[in-house]
Amino acid sequence: MCGIVGYIGSGNVYDVLIKGLHRLEYRGYDSAGIALVDDKGKLSVFKAKGKVANLESYCEDKNTDSAVVGIAHTRWATHGEPSDHNAHPHYSEDGNLALVHNGTIENYQILKDALIQQGCTFQSETDTEVLVQLIEYIKVHNNCSLLDAVREALKEVVGAYAIAVVEKDKPDTIIAARKSSPLVIGIGDGEFLLASDATPIVEYTKDVVYLKDEEIAILQRGKPLQLVTLENEKAKIDVKTLQLSISQLEKGGYPHFMLKEIFEQPKTLLDCIRGRVVDGGKQVMLNGVLDNKEQFLKARRFVIVACGTSWHAALIGKYLLQDMCHIPVAVEYASEFRYSKPVIYDTDIVIAISQSGETADTLAAIKIAKGMGAFVYGVSNVVGSSIPRETDSGTYIHVGPEIGVASTKAFTGQVMVLTMLALSIAQLRGTMTPHQIEEIGKEILTIPDKVEGILKSLNEKVKQMSLIYTYARNFLYLGRGYSYPVALEGALKLKEISYVHAEGYPAAEMKHGPIALIDEEMPSVIIAPKDHLYDKIVNNVQQVKARGGSIIAVVTEGDDLISEIADHVLEVPKVSECLSPIITSIPLQLISYYIAINKGKNVDMPRNLAKSVTVE
Ligand code: AGP
Ligand code: GLU
Repeated sequence: MCGIVGYIGSGNVYDVLIKGLHRLEYRGYDSAGIALVDDKGKLSVFKAKGKVANLESYCEDKNTDSAVVGIAHTRWATHGEPSDHNAHPHYSEDGNLALVHNGTIENYQILKDALIQQGCTFQSETDTEVLVQLIEYIKVHNNCSLLDAVREALKEVVGAYAIAVVEKDKPDTIIAARKSSPLVIGIGDGEFLLASDATPIVEYTKDVVYLKDEEIAILQRGKPLQLVTLENEKAKIDVKTLQLSISQLEKGGYPHFMLKEIFEQPKTLLDCIRGRVVDGGKQVMLNGVLDNKEQFLKARRFVIVACGTSWHAALIGKYLLQDMCHIPVAVEYASEFRYSKPVIYDTDIVIAISQSGETADTLAAIKIAKGMGAFVYGVSNVVGSSIPRETDSGTYIHVGPEIGVASTKAFTGQVMVLTMLALSIAQLRGTMTPHQIEEIGKEILTIPDKVEGILKSLNEKVKQMSLIYTYARNFLYLGRGYSYPVALEGALKLKEISYVHAEGYPAAEMKHGPIALIDEEMPSVIIAPKDHLYDKIVNNVQQVKARGGSIIAVVTEGDDLISEIADHVLEVPKVSECLSPIITSIPLQLISYYIAINKGKNVDMPRNLAKSVTVE
């Protein structure tokens, strides 16, 4: 969600920051801004509502070349509408400081009232401006350094923050800090970068430090990086090497990141299973399970917490774990779990799923679960992000950076990891025979090729078909068993990028209400592979048809029953039931992509959405 970039070094500060903001655009935002300090101690702030390109146009006639240090921001408004004056950076009242902030200051009103009483005036409605005013107030009243003022101010703050601050007459320093919002420092050759994730940094250096909660970084020209705690104690600097490459961050010839990511899935799924499904499929080796055998042997229940698409993957995980390991599984929205007085035992394993690894609700759920004694297992994509660091163990999905806001390859990667997780636990607990494991293991190895085949055979077909449905105003997505979460995910994908209302339902629930909606204006997308519920779903297809609704059906190759009834049939290869969600999701991704494109929507950056939701 939104982003921060900072730079101190001998490169062109403005260019580095703008490029960095572009790299962070995928995270979602509504306005952008930049603060530059030149070597004469002049601090300038430029900001604009809308895209980073607007900010660039605004800066065209400004002097940006003399800057020697700077910070920049993309905002995703939480306090105050998206506007030029609410955009960051925010100045302190005396104009000596400029600050950018991701997150929310929950006690901002109390702090603001106190500052107003002291005579402070405010230029914006943001919670952020309160923080910069507070820092200035402390700095002036305590006659202390910027670092000490930041430390003291942050002690007063309740909420989440990643911040970077520059000072007018200190063109050699940036002070940055974080709590619950991400911040990474890049250590280059005579230069420092900072950013919300590694994407703006990778071009300059592979050496990074992930700040921990309540750590403050002092980036000073010509000096080594320093980290301190809020209590001014030295913190350990743990330099990690980035595994990211620039080519992974570019579109590689596709018109949109989303399409690139859909088409990357044969490769990303291969990366996800590489070294994990081994010995021709006989063994499934997840280090996170092998290193924690005791925990997995004593577990009596799994509780999976996640949000959005990851929550849909979690629902599939429930079917997988129950089928393969015969253990009860509860699936919770992380946002509900955290406030629901959860009952968690030390024999529970809590699985937290998050592509970004930064979702605030999921992080909060993890902390609660850990506090109650559960062993917490993370399933994430972004190496070094907060969730893998907060969990006891876990598995990366290894699908590479997902830039499109609507998750596609991360979803299939999550489902693949959950499948391997269930198999490896089943192996450990003996709930499946070696033969059964080998059967599924072997089949997993064929999935990347099958996905490739689906993309080849269905892309053009879905593209043409989407023209017929572009102006439908409502869609119903129906599925049963493993296909029910797939229906939910298909509907979410369409909503997110085409702004068309779509509902996902377990197909059998249709008759308990949603059937009333069906008429010739309301298409239904029915996910009906040949599984043990196939005969049941045929009935649902008939029920829709009988009410004049048009039907797009995702079926197994060779299906002749549903193919007779449906208006459009999208055939996918036959696979075992437990592997069908990965296969049936692919055509649904294409449907939402093409409908959104036909409507002229910005599929990579849909309105109002953010890639990583680091606020509540
Ligand atoms: C996916 O298409 C969505 N943009 C969204 O639902 C997302 O899955 C959700 O915000 C959770 O994100 P996470 O996986 O990074 O935790
Ligand atoms: N809460 C701040 C605001 O609304 C920061 C939002 C963000 O993370 O971009 O301005």
